Amino acid sequence: MLALTYGGPNRVRVKDKPEPKLEHPNDVVLRVTRAAICGSDLHLLHGLIPDTRVGCTFGHEFTGVVEEVGSSVESLQRGDRVVVPFNISCGSCFFCERGLTANCENTNPNASVASGVYGYSHTTGGFEGGQAELVRVPFADVGPMKIPDDMTDEAVLFLSDILPTGYQAAEMGEIKPGETVVVFGCGPVGLFAQKSAWLLGAGRVIAVDYLDYRLEFARRYSGVETVNFREVDAVAHLRKITGGRGADVCIDAVGCEAKGSLAQTIFGVKAKLMAGSSTAINWSIASVRKGGNVVLIGAYGPPFNAVDIGTAMNKGLTIRMNQANCKRYMPHLLEHIREGRIDAEGIITHRVPLEDAAEAYELFDRRRDDCIKCVLIPPKAA
Ligand SMILES: NC(=O)c1ccc[n+]([C@@H]2O[C@H](COP(=O)([O-])OP(=O)(O)OC[C@H]3O[C@@H](n4cnc5c(N)ncnc54)[C@H](O)[C@@H]3O)[C@@H](O)[C@H]2O)c1
Ligand SMILES: [Zn+2]
Ligand SMILES: [Zn+2]
Repeated sequence: MLALTYGGPNRVRVKDKPEPKLEHPNDVVLRVTRAAICGSDLHLLHGLIPDTRVGCTFGHEFTGVVEEVGSSVESLQRGDRVVVPFNISCGSCFFCERGLTANCENTNPNASVASGVYGYSHTTGGFEGGQAELVRVPFADVGPMKIPDDMTDEAVLFLSDILPTGYQAAEMGEIKPGETVVVFGCGPVGLFAQKSAWLLGAGRVIAVDYLDYRLEFARRYSGVETVNFREVDAVAHLRKITGGRGADVCIDAVGCEAKGSLAQTIFGVKAKLMAGSSTAINWSIASVRKGGNVVLIGAYGPPFNAVDIGTAMNKGLTIRMNQANCKRYMPHLLEHIREGRIDAEGIITHRVPLEDAAEAYELFDRRRDDCIKCVLIPPKAA
């Protein structure tokens, strides 16, 4: 089968690989119909995630049709269309029982932190990803959600990750009616965090980025005010437009590859590898009001981030963060999509044949052609 294959930092290629097989009675094998490229895949591409092995396949946002069914699977049959959360969870451990499927302790040999994740290095279990024609889905009775007959795969594709991620960010912000929310980042996750902030009662939503086409997209798609941090000092400007006090809630939807810090620019890749760039989290801490809430939903890889925790303490902030517990939000967000409150597929700017996935990575990574979100379409699903 064809699959996007990692060849070392900044090298991916579509190659022929052996087809996945059922390995456990509760597995299914899916024929992938849509697989998106995520901002998190760029961290893999750039070699920032430890133990990303040459030859592995990325992809944790996908829909598919069930092709093979393990002997103990009860909830799925051959031919079912499903959308799969990016976290692989067992459904019954201490964490799963508390809705923390992102922290499941049974699906990742390195379970002290996160659950298993499709296509996300051996630090999250070494599972093969869905940017391929076929993918093995373990714990098939737990993760996958059947797609209702009246909905398309693309309509619900982002329930796999970025929509629950953005929504969880807004929910963790505990936005009170009328409050001001600042979202750093106008990538797909930031856009859904902005939309969700409105749904959860914000009175004002301000989005920050430096890419004009993304700021323009955010104004149109999420109806937000925008700030370009290449034109103004983001923190000073945000303080000024929030009455000198700061926003009630700040969300970091950027993560470890943030632009905008001088040290980052000077030390480049070395700074990234050693520490990641903590610019967006520090801007969040600086821009929120005293006693406010900061949510960290962007991904940070290396452990030595210079985060301004002293200021956070002195300001009396609440800081919350996690990988998205997708499963918890999928049914509710499906209804938001069905009722038209969130046009999730509206952020897709590029549909690309799986064969051309390497070019799609390049386009998304270099922010070419006003790219917001790329979706790969395997040949048999076209
Ligand atoms: N917690 C989770 O479960 C989860 C799930 C999915 C993605 N993520 C993470 O969320 C982050 C965003 O994902 P995405 O798909 O939207 O990625 P993306 O790369 O498309 O978007 C990031 C955006 O941030 C902007 N940006 C860079 N520096 C900035 C700064 N200092 N201030 C404001 N904006 C800045 C970029 O220009 C870009 O538009 C990534 O770190 C990704 O790994 C986390
Ligand atoms: Zn993702
Ligand atoms: Zn579990």
